Amino acid sequence: MKVAEISSLGKLIDERVQIRGWIRRKRSSGKIQFLFLRDGSGFVQAIVEKSSVPASVFQAAASLKMESSLIVTGLVKAEERAPGGVELLVEDLEIVQIPEKDFPINKPDHSIDFLMDNRHLWLRTQRQTHVLRIRHEIIRAVREFYNDRGFILVDTPIFTGSIGESAGNTFEIDYFDYGKAYLAQTGQLYLEAAAMALGKVYNLGPTFRAEKSKTRRHLIEFWMNEAEVAYYGHDDNIKLQEDLVAYVVKKTLERAGEDLKSIGRDTSKLEKIETPFPRITYDEAVRLLQKKGFEINWGEDIGGDEETAIANEFEKPVVVERYPRMMKAFYMQPDPERPDVVLCDDMLAPEGYGEIIGASERIHDRDLLIKRIEEYGLDVSSYDWYLELRDYGSVPHSGFGMGIERIVAWIAGLEHIREAIPFARTLYRIHP
Ligand code: 4AD
Ligand code: MG
Repeated sequence: MKVAEISSLGKLIDERVQIRGWIRRKRSSGKIQFLFLRDGSGFVQAIVEKSSVPASVFQAAASLKMESSLIVTGLVKAEERAPGGVELLVEDLEIVQIPEKDFPINKPDHSIDFLMDNRHLWLRTQRQTHVLRIRHEIIRAVREFYNDRGFILVDTPIFTGSIGESAGNTFEIDYFDYGKAYLAQTGQLYLEAAAMALGKVYNLGPTFRAEKSKTRRHLIEFWMNEAEVAYYGHDDNIKLQEDLVAYVVKKTLERAGEDLKSIGRDTSKLEKIETPFPRITYDEAVRLLQKKGFEINWGEDIGGDEETAIANEFEKPVVVERYPRMMKAFYMQPDPERPDVVLCDDMLAPEGYGEIIGASERIHDRDLLIKRIEEYGLDVSSYDWYLELRDYGSVPHSGFGMGIERIVAWIAGLEHIREAIPFARTLYRIHP
C-alpha cells in the first residue's frame, strides 16, 4: 500500500493510499462519519460510509476521539468544495491509540494562559501548524538569501565573556573558574572578527535578553539573524537590509501563501513590500512624532507606541537612521558630519509591528572604541580580542541583526510575539 502525505493527495486522485495521522475533529450523520484528519503535512476530510465499509470499520471510526492516532486506507477523490480540492473515501482503518482522556484543547475560546500552559499540545491545532510552517519558510528564505549572495555562515557562541550590546539586560552565569560569563545578546562581535576573515558573513541563532518589559514584542529568548560585511558603509548596509526583507516577504508569499491565507492574513499588504523602502532620520522622526502630539524631545528614546505611530505613515517598512549616539550601543560609528549622531538604522515594520532590524556601521578605530567602551561603563579588559581586530588591517564595516520572531509576527499578522516561536520564553514562562 502506498503511504502518502496529505499535502500530496492533489496529485493522487483516484489512487488508493494509506495516511498515517491523527483525528483533529469528527462529526457524524448516522450513516456517514466525517473524520478531519491531519498528518503534519496538512489536513483532509475522510469519509466513512456505513454502506460501503465492513461493520467493524464503521464501529472503529465511531469509537475515535479527538487526537486518536490511526492509519487510514482509502481512495483519493477530487472534491472541489473540500479544502485542498480532495477528500478520502475510507476503506479501512487501523487504530494506533485512542486517548483515555479528552484532548484539553477543544473549544474556540480557551484563555491564552491555558493555551500557553498547553503549548506542547496547542502546537497540534491547525492555526499553530500554519504559523510554524510560515516561520520555517521565513528562515529558509533568510538562509537562501545569504547563501545565494556568497555570504558564509559563521555560528557565533551562546556563552560569551564580553557583553555584546548593553550591560542592562544580560543573563549572568558562573562559568567554572573563569568567573562570570553571559548568555549572548548578539553574535555581532564575533561576526566582526569573521568578516575580517571572510568578507561577508551571517549567523542565525538564539539570543537572550533579561528584558523586564512585558510587551507584545519582547521575548527573553529569541532567534536573531545577523550579517556583517567588511568594507560596507552605512548606505550599503541599508540596501542589504531592504533586499533581505523584500526577498523574505516575496518567498514566504510564494511558498506559504496558503498558510498565510488560512490564518486570515491580508496578503495584499505584503505584496506591496518592494524595495526601496522609505527612509527618515531620527531628527525627522522626532518632528513627526511631535506633530502627532507625542511628548518627545530630541535625544529621547523612540518607544513602542512611537514606533507604531511612525510606521503607520507608511505601507512598507520604514528605515529610521542616524540616532543620537547616547541612545545606541557603544560600537556604532559616529556620523563624520555630525558626531552627536551615529551611522545606524532601525527598520520598523508596518501595521504596528515595530522594530524588526537594528543596524549600524561599526567603529573601526581602536582609540575611539576604547573611549566608548569606557563611557558605557563596560570592562575594557574583556574586549581585548575585539579591540585587536582594530590593530591588523582594520577597515570600515557594517552589519545588522534581524529578530526572527519579529519578522514572523509581522508577516503572519500575529497579535503577540509568543505565537511566533515554538516554545516562548517570556518574563513569566519557562514551561513547557
Ligand atoms: O537592535 P538589537 O538590539 O541589535 C543588536 O543586537 C545588534 N548587535 C545586531 C547587529 O547589528 N548585529 O537587536 C536586533 C533585533 C531587533 O531589531 C529586534 O528585531 C530583535 O533583534 N530583538 C528582539 N526580538 C524579540 N524579543 C526581544 N527581546 C528582542 N530584542 C531585540
Ligand atoms: Mg535595536
